Amino acid sequence: MQKQVYLQTYGCQMNERDSEEILGMLTAQGYAIVQREEEADVILLNTCSVREHAEARAFGKMGIMQQLKRQRPDLVLGILGCMAKAQREEVFRRLPQVDLVAGPAEIYDLPDLLAQVAEKRQRQGLVAAIPDHGPLPPSRSRILALDRQVRPLDRKPAGDYRRGQVTAFVTIMEGCDKKCAYCIVPMTRGQELSRPMQEIVEEVQQLARAGYKQVTLLGQNVNSYGKRFPDGSGYQGPGRRRRLLELEAEPGAASQGVAEGLPLIDFPVLLRHIDAKTSMARVRFTTSHPFDAHEQLFCAMAECPTVCEFLHLPVQSGSNGVLRAMRRGYTVEAYLSKVARLRELIPEVALSTDVIVGFPGETEEDFEATRALMAEVEYDSAFIFKYSPRPGTEAASWVDDVPRPVKEARNQALLALQEEISRRRTTRWVGREVEVLIEGRNRRGQLAGHTRGNATVVCEGPNTCIGELAIVRVVRAKGTTLIGELVP
Ligand code: 5AD
Ligand code: SF4
Repeated sequence: MQKQVYLQTYGCQMNERDSEEILGMLTAQGYAIVQREEEADVILLNTCSVREHAEARAFGKMGIMQQLKRQRPDLVLGILGCMAKAQREEVFRRLPQVDLVAGPAEIYDLPDLLAQVAEKRQRQGLVAAIPDHGPLPPSRSRILALDRQVRPLDRKPAGDYRRGQVTAFVTIMEGCDKKCAYCIVPMTRGQELSRPMQEIVEEVQQLARAGYKQVTLLGQNVNSYGKRFPDGSGYQGPGRRRRLLELEAEPGAASQGVAEGLPLIDFPVLLRHIDAKTSMARVRFTTSHPFDAHEQLFCAMAECPTVCEFLHLPVQSGSNGVLRAMRRGYTVEAYLSKVARLRELIPEVALSTDVIVGFPGETEEDFEATRALMAEVEYDSAFIFKYSPRPGTEAASWVDDVPRPVKEARNQALLALQEEISRRRTTRWVGREVEVLIEGRNRRGQLAGHTRGNATVVCEGPNTCIGELAIVRVVRAKGTTLIGELVP
């Protein structure tokens, strides 16, 4: 009989894309995807560890799911992704009935791992019944897969699955080599590894042929794309990239360049290739670390017609002291000068950011500096997070000294400020004609999509517009949503 799988995803877009790949592999193996956990034979949670809250939700959900095993001992439960990697001991302790624990680097092993769970059960004969009440015993068919350092990016999974039909995610790199003091990602997703450029270009072209109109290129830090490829090539580090760029700029240095392994493949080069060699209508990307976002990136964004005028550039704090403690590798001044240069090249560019409030040692003055930075930059949107110590990170060993109510108040203050700015920024489009990729219908039945700057637009119109680029005249703004009319 066909096995049914239910998969819930927490966390970032990288995780969402991983879940698509997981479902692709499992459907290729004959599994059917179900939307309700009660119908499933296999329940998987693809988890996130970036903040405590994300973990608490996954623990809560799987805590309920494991109770289902009292009635259905043959159910298979899996914790996948970042929390599996970061919290293996806690997963054992709090979720004894989980059968499969696999990290982000192991997702391509999943069909195999599920087969191992089944095999283990078969060898044991009948699945042991679990008492109706009392503590749950540990699963007897548990499989652990957490040891890979990096995902084998050159091993394409069989089968694919994508949730959307108009927009698609494309992973271009895995892992992160940075050491931001608060961040768990280098521990959960391991060392940086970039996918070969040709493979990415082919995937984007295939998506274009299949009718997709937009790709979002994904990586923890897309701006260090090309540092390390699976075959060991790559520019290796920022210093060497700088040297290669200098060589490219020097006339007559080509022969030396060959010796150095030119041509340089980095993120701006990848953007230019996708722009020139595929028929994809729109290209977005996320996330960009400000340290690695340079002039070449801004020029590529300005010069490639398919690359949208939108940049998510997480600043994290507006205080140099806090940025230093966070080990971000840039100052407020350096960040602002990058923003200024980008706006010089692309005046209409939309910007978004991430900010953490309540980092250890953040004073009132530091916080005010962040508020001032946000007021100065005027982001189109911003995600504000309260600092949450992550076990194993550098900052977790520091005293989490900003009291919870202060974190809360700072969070609220920045949310209010940003809401006001976002509304104001949105109104600048009123009365203008904008290009909108119509992605579908919203709950009220209106056509809905996004501008190149990622503003949400709704309008009335026929189904034939779905999946098309339309010109919309913006009539008014409601909050941060633009309301418009199709221009025939
Ligand atoms: N606490 C709070 N926010 C965090 N982020 C990452 N780690 C933490 C943490 N320990 C935020 C950062 C990052 C975003 C994805 O999550 O702002 O850019
Ligand atoms: Fe969460 Fe970070 Fe892992 Fe994404 S990479 S799932 S944000 S911990």
